[in-house]
Amino acid sequence: MKKRWLFGALLALLMLTCLILTACADTPDPVPEEEMIELTLEELAQFDGKDGRHAYIAVDGAIYDVTDSTRWNNGQHNGYSAGNDLTEEIKNSSPHGVSKLKTVPMIGRLKD
Ligand code: HEM
Repeated sequence: MKKRWLFGALLALLMLTCLILTACADTPDPVPEEEMIELTLEELAQFDGKDGRHAYIAVDGAIYDVTDSTRWNNGQHNGYSAGNDLTEEIKNSSPHGVSKLKTVPMIGRLKD
């Protein structure tokens, strides 16, 4: 009886560890504040992910790097292009909303 209880507890612990590891694997390490960049909308446009250029997108004033995302090949994602402020689009037209932003690194902010 006692053994069965112990086995159950160990199994629960294992499942919890797996859950935590899966959640962490999805979240990139935060970029240190001093390494954050600042770009205007015009400067952001250069980072379109084409011809080997980095692919950056902006949402709510924050800039995200989607260069290494398999979902953003050549800066393209379901008809949307990197190098743009996609705040309205991600909130109103995407099936996932802003939740997916936590899976890509936030690297800076838009400046006016
Ligand atoms: C019709 C529009 C859209 C569709 C159908 C769509 C669909 C998807 C799907 C299926 C994924 C992968 C989900 C997963 O792995 O769990 C994804 C990821 C993502 N989407 Fe969208 N999306 C759309 C628009 C947008 C827009 C406008 C943005 C703008 C910022 C965006 C940003 C992202 C990001 C950052 C990821 C995560 C990429 C990664 O983890 O590598 N999506 N999207």
